[in-house]
Amino acid sequence: MADPFPAVAEAAATGETAELFADIRAMVAYLRTVPAIQTPDLPAPKEAAASADPKQGAAVANADSRGQHVFAGACAGCHGWTGTSPLSSRATLTGTRAINDPSAKNVAQIVLSGSKHPAPGAGIAMPSFGADYTDDEIAAVANYVTGRFGAQASAITANDVQKMREMQ
Ligand code: HEC
Repeated sequence: MADPFPAVAEAAATGETAELFADIRAMVAYLRTVPAIQTPDLPAPKEAAASADPKQGAAVANADSRGQHVFAGACAGCHGWTGTSPLSSRATLTGTRAINDPSAKNVAQIVLSGSKHPAPGAGIAMPSFGADYTDDEIAAVANYVTGRFGAQASAITANDVQKMREMQ
């Protein structure tokens, strides 16, 4: 994937960061004036952490054992069984928009692609799992995490994940 902030790298190279940061501040000021879009069809985010016991947890209607299996092997070390990350508050899943969005699109996307931004304090970023897991496994783990940590379990399918891969 291309550098997500090429303008920052370019400005740093040419010494024009002050101008760039002024532009970014202006953009933030503008965005803060844009009214939030109401989404009354979405459930309120779940703020309570899940049980620390992998066998306990909210009813996970759409998740199957593969989702839990992938979570145990690839995710629990950084995100914890409670959803409160032992590494960094940036990696805490409980309460986040992605986890509470029943489409699970952003969850599947970050599992496919990872993140390039190391979590403060932890110094590690989320790796990408697109090469390690099938579409089916990625859909299963996405449905597992929305069900365990979010307000409503998602029902994303392997076909949805395959379409996301094609758009990468
Ligand atoms: C090496 C540690 C590590 C592993 C392993 C890991 N993650 Fe992450 N994850 C992170 C970090 C750090 C972030 C925050 C990334 C950011 O802020 O850019 C994150 C962010 C996320 C987010 C976005 C949360 C938000 O703020 O919206 C989701 C969803 C997620 N991870 C799910 C998973 C799943 C599912 C797995 C297993 C397939 C997994 N992660 C494996 C470290 C990890």
